[in-house]
Amino acid sequence: MPHRPYVIDQMISAKSIAARIEDLAREIEAAYADTERLIVVGLLRGSFVFIADLVRELDMNVEVDFLEASSYGDSMESSREVRILKDLRGKIGGKDVLLVEDIVDTGFTLKHVVNLLQSRKPRVMKTIALLDKPSRREVDIRADWTGFEIPDEFVVGYGIDFAQRNRNLPFIGKVRFTDECEA
Ligand code: IMP
Ligand code: MG
Repeated sequence: MPHRPYVIDQMISAKSIAARIEDLAREIEAAYADTERLIVVGLLRGSFVFIADLVRELDMNVEVDFLEASSYGDSMESSREVRILKDLRGKIGGKDVLLVEDIVDTGFTLKHVVNLLQSRKPRVMKTIALLDKPSRREVDIRADWTGFEIPDEFVVGYGIDFAQRNRNLPFIGKVRFTDECEA
């Protein structure tokens, strides 16, 4: 798919993300205070940078597992149909789980994955999303923790892609097409 030209405007700095993750880690440690071992489940691929930074902030016994759900493909719109492309390696029945997502947009992905993992009867499962676009929500779901609420903008960086590009940016930026007429 040929790309329209775009630039990326910084929206959330690497420093702000790091500071927010420290706060979130303290809240997560408190919420799982009686947990012997926390299974941190990352939703691939967008959460890989966030989960790497988050687990290194957590002062507790942690295991990491991954799940991959179908995503946007190369488009900027949710397919609203979620398929599991790669399942967890480990069992979560009776365990304490934290599901880590990059962005909650329409909410279809998080809802689907939460329902799937709940059907496996973890002892507790909570959810965290780095970003939330509440104005885009189509299904009623919220993560237990959110890093930042953002407006309805298409964002990239810190693990998040546009057609597989820009995941390696250390900050969150918004995509601005440069072939659009500016008023
Ligand atoms: P939902 O099912 O519509 O909530 O979509 C969630 C998934 O869509 C996220 O996990 C992201 O992978 C992707 N997504 C949503 N918004 C953006 C964005 O602004 N940039 C890149 N990917 C996004
Ligand atoms: Mg995703």
